[in-house]
Amino acid sequence: MEKISVIGTGTMGHSIALTIAWANLPVIVYGLDDDEIQKAIEGIQNKTEMLKENQILDENKTKQIIEHIRFSKDLEAAVSEATFIIEAAPENLELKQKLFKELEQFCTKDTILASNSSSLPPTKIAQNLQYPQRVLGTHFWNPAHLLPLVEIIKGEKTEHIFIERARDLMIRINKQPILVNKEVVGFVGNRLQFALFREAQHLYETEVASIHDIDTAVQLSIGRRLGITGPFMTADLGGLDIFKSISDYTFSDLSNQETASDTINQFVHEGHLGEKSGKGYYEWEERFSKEMKQKREAELIRWLKKDAKK
Ligand SMILES: NC(=O)c1ccc[n+]([C@@H]2O[C@H](COP(=O)([O-])OP(=O)(O)OC[C@H]3O[C@@H](n4cnc5c(N)ncnc54)[C@H](O)[C@@H]3O)[C@@H](O)[C@H]2O)c1
Repeated sequence: MEKISVIGTGTMGHSIALTIAWANLPVIVYGLDDDEIQKAIEGIQNKTEMLKENQILDENKTKQIIEHIRFSKDLEAAVSEATFIIEAAPENLELKQKLFKELEQFCTKDTILASNSSSLPPTKIAQNLQYPQRVLGTHFWNPAHLLPLVEIIKGEKTEHIFIERARDLMIRINKQPILVNKEVVGFVGNRLQFALFREAQHLYETEVASIHDIDTAVQLSIGRRLGITGPFMTADLGGLDIFKSISDYTFSDLSNQETASDTINQFVHEGHLGEKSGKGYYEWEERFSKEMKQKREAELIRWLKKDAKK
């Protein structure tokens, strides 16, 4: 079994560590300092509490999870025994390149160096390494302990054996991996998400519908279906003759804008960053914010319970 280390204690790092420990595997997490480590511990406690409240974890299992997670402020100590390192440090190419170079000095050439980057290609991250063949992407989705998808990204030099090991580990920690064969920007999931977001921005800018109605259209139609049937299966079920015909007359009319729309630019310019600043497309009063977060979490947990029955 792989010996796993996670680099970074932020949004993704602590939640990936929780996922690993939940699957009954020990994990060492590298954190920059005591404050960061403390925040991660609290994050893990909050999440396990919530899973307990939803009858997914019991007291014993929670204790086991906590025991499986160790923290270290010493990078070498955190990774020297590892056979599989998942990096969840800030999204900055130079920082990741430097970090991977350091990691390479502390581990054997067969240790997998996996980046959780949302968009940086493994080939670029591995650019200055002696053994780039073991570098790949394992892109978890946020919240990592609740969403099952992990995109495994193959770099130009990544060898098949390491992809297979990454796939095996993701399955072992109860994730559902897909393979991204080429390092396209946004990989698969974010390309699809942002194709929808670009069109949503376009529909709003051209006054076809309101923000609320565009969100409602997605929630109450494709949103409900997509969790069961992805775009291709949806097309098969709808009839390919119909989907071909609609593709032919719709594609040329869809947005092909190359940058974010005026509205979102204006919001960002004015410091309206969405929920975290209290205003964005919606007004995020504390109660509304809490309610929506709970609703979303409850739905993800409902799915998780459904997955567990399969
Ligand atoms: N937040 C998301 O929704 C999300 C989703 C998928 C993937 N990602 C990717 O995951 C990675 C981490 O994102 P995040 O949201 O957890 O960021 P974050 O800012 O919450 O956490 C980053 C962590 O890295 C630590 N750190 C800073 N400098 C470091 C260094 N030199 N070495 C090691 N650790 C360092 C920080 O202290 C912090 O704990 C990014 O590459 C991001 O693109 C994020």
